[in-house]
Amino acid sequence: MSYLANIKRYTKMQYRNCGQSGLKLPLISIGLWHNFGGNGMSSESKKILFESFDSGITHFDLANNYGPPYGSAETNFGKVMKSDLGKYRDEMIISSKAGYDMWDGPYGEWGSKKHVIASCDQSLKRMNLDYVDIFYSHRFDPNTPLEETADALESIYRSGKALYIGISSYSEKKTNVMMKILKQRGIKLFIHQPSYSLINRWIEKGLTKTLLKNGVGCIAFSPLAQGFLSNKYLNGLPKGTRVSENSSFSRKLITKKNTKIINDLNKLAKKRGQNLSQMALAWVLNNKAITSALIGARTVTQLRDCLASLDNLKFGKEEIKKINQKAKDGDINIWAPSSSY
Ligand SMILES: NC(=O)c1ccc[n+]([C@@H]2O[C@H](COP(=O)([O-])OP(=O)(O)OC[C@H]3O[C@@H](n4cnc5c(N)ncnc54)[C@H](OP(=O)(O)O)[C@@H]3O)[C@@H](O)[C@H]2O)c1
Repeated sequence: MSYLANIKRYTKMQYRNCGQSGLKLPLISIGLWHNFGGNGMSSESKKILFESFDSGITHFDLANNYGPPYGSAETNFGKVMKSDLGKYRDEMIISSKAGYDMWDGPYGEWGSKKHVIASCDQSLKRMNLDYVDIFYSHRFDPNTPLEETADALESIYRSGKALYIGISSYSEKKTNVMMKILKQRGIKLFIHQPSYSLINRWIEKGLTKTLLKNGVGCIAFSPLAQGFLSNKYLNGLPKGTRVSENSSFSRKLITKKNTKIINDLNKLAKKRGQNLSQMALAWVLNNKAITSALIGARTVTQLRDCLASLDNLKFGKEEIKKINQKAKDGDINIWAPSSSY
């Protein structure tokens, strides 16, 4: 039998306007970078999607190359749209992106008009969608004029293939340039998607101020530092995780210094009656520039655990001071090259 959403799905989740737009995003959004690819979606991953929607998570974030293999997360998501979630399309905010390596040859990645438009068309086909709600330039391309990437985004926007335009991992400087170019074309930059967490605080050096000033929303990806901000890393290398699978989270990032940071933070989390992951999410959401925390989940249990962070989002002045003293940058931002321009 096809999935039927919980009728109480909007009773608990909180929503924030994305920048100065009228569109609200849930405080927690779910991303399909890991755990949703392969030859058909696992039943646990399907359950994560359904439980997310049942909990008021309206925003699902994808990209052309999520998998593995590339494209498979979108294909699998498209199948679930067809079989179960499609009837709720108007209650969902679905995003995709182009910019990272996707297919062979010179047009398979980066920011050319050719790549960005072809990639968007492919994503729509894979997901069985007429449009995405948000389409992103996934990374800044130093070898393509920003005007050309903006051309592509404008074309996607004007043709109705995307309702809103975003950029991801752009520096403050390049964000300002892109905002200006889009504005000249009568388009407002809607959202920025940067990495941000207790141990990855680069956006505080200027980007968040710019976004706030210009009314642009901000959705923080990897707010748990790919799972490192959780109990399982407090005492070494856990099995059955991203780090043990030699995936995008390299064990080289688990230094003594970083392990000490998360243990110190965990003590402060306990005092709030939260676990480390829950405090990490509450902390990200405490930044007034942040619209939503974009998490990943391997299991329904992890998703529920993350959602419970919403039960305690308040921080005292002294408390936040203590947390910020311990929350030092851990050099774990693997997306830094993109924002170095
Ligand atoms: N724009 C970009 O360039 C970009 C880059 C990266 C990600 N993103 C987006 O952001 C989304 C989230 O990224 P992410 O997956 O790195 O986010 P994350 O939330 O920082 O990490 C997710 C991982 O943390 C662990 N986890 C989650 N909840 C947990 C809990 N309650 N307790 C213990 N461990 C928990 C799991 O790791 P294990 O699997 O190891 O258990 C899970 O796979 C992606 O799906 C994607 O949509 C965008």
